[in-house]
Amino acid sequence: MSGSNRGSDRQVEVYMEGLADITPDVPPSFEALEEAALEVLDDEAYGYVAGGAGGERTVGHNRDAFAKWRLWPRMLRDFSERDLSTELFGTEFSVPVLLAPIGVQSIIHDDGELGTARAADSLDVPLVASSAASHTMEDIAEELGDTPGWFQLYWPSDDDLTKSFVTRADEAGYEALVVTLDNNILGWRERDIGDAYLPFLDGEGVANYFSDPAFRDLLDAPPEDSELAAIRTFIDVFGDPSLTFDDLEWLCEFADLPVVVKGVLHPDDARECVARGADGVVVSNHGGRQVDNAVPALEALPHVVSALDADVPVLFDSGIRRGADALVALALGADAVQFGRPYAYGLAIDGEDGVEEVVKNFLADLDLTLGLIGYDDVEDVDREAVVRADEL
Ligand code: FNR
Repeated sequence: MSGSNRGSDRQVEVYMEGLADITPDVPPSFEALEEAALEVLDDEAYGYVAGGAGGERTVGHNRDAFAKWRLWPRMLRDFSERDLSTELFGTEFSVPVLLAPIGVQSIIHDDGELGTARAADSLDVPLVASSAASHTMEDIAEELGDTPGWFQLYWPSDDDLTKSFVTRADEAGYEALVVTLDNNILGWRERDIGDAYLPFLDGEGVANYFSDPAFRDLLDAPPEDSELAAIRTFIDVFGDPSLTFDDLEWLCEFADLPVVVKGVLHPDDARECVARGADGVVVSNHGGRQVDNAVPALEALPHVVSALDADVPVLFDSGIRRGADALVALALGADAVQFGRPYAYGLAIDGEDGVEEVVKNFLADLDLTLGLIGYDDVEDVDREAVVRADEL
């Protein structure tokens, strides 16, 4: 959508409802959103979504990193017509934002990933579907309609299953494969350990596996007859800590879709991934869910950007809460950002409608803030738009 008016349209919508004494059910502030989600989710599900690895220092670092940068607004630059659109791998995106892959959404709300996909479609916001979704990638693609979708792969230890997932994703119409590299084993998550809770053991988040012919070939009995045995096999094949860059080369050769590696933080890793065939990179620390006291993703971003040729798409996630955060990431060289926990909280509060509200607010904020810092095209936002707080 060129010529964005997402910001003022949303303001008018909200303020007009205010005339009839209607205020939004879904809070516009992230902090209030998180509190509201805490009210509606059971403790285990809340802990799973909000929690991070170890002492959750990385979760904190991710947010603190944004405080080290300031947007530096410029005046009198005519931003009456704003363009939020961008292009990635030959597809036009209406906004430089994708909904991040978030698995097991059935523990958050009955609408699960299908509700999220419908919300994404209604706002024309691209979605990355998780391999650990509670619904199959085919059903999610159906709900997503013509809105661009990418498929996120947790890279299984079984090659036939890996190939089957990649082939299914291509056939279902996904336009890129996001290969998550930072979760080959699960991080030490104190909240989940304290709750003795792993949703997959309840048979949540395994839809892609249970429906997969290559996965079913690994079983003595189909999951419908012996769920526990199927879950055990799922645990066995979910990830493979022995993977190396040689394996990445194999995967990139096999996949017809563009391969985007997610979870890269070190510039040398980014360079090596691209040398082995990756087409793009997501700078991310999984929202602080894997390694405690790790480098904040935002601090890693400029290092990764400088390590790669300018034509390699770099995406960013981990800590994006508001429009201003997205603009800082874009200014530091990201081509697009992934929006994570906030939409999961919207899903918790009001299912599909909750996701729609949260994403609409985020894009409105992004659109208005883009103009207010003096830009009319999101693709023009560069290092000039920010300054380090300690350099002021
Ligand atoms: C995730 N994330 C994730 N990543 C991935 O590649 N596949 C997945 O299935 C999931 N599942 C998942 C579940 C939940 C509950 C959360 C919160 C996160 C990580 C996600 O894609 C993204 O990297 C983080 O959410 C970014 O951090 P923030 O911005 O949400 O804090």
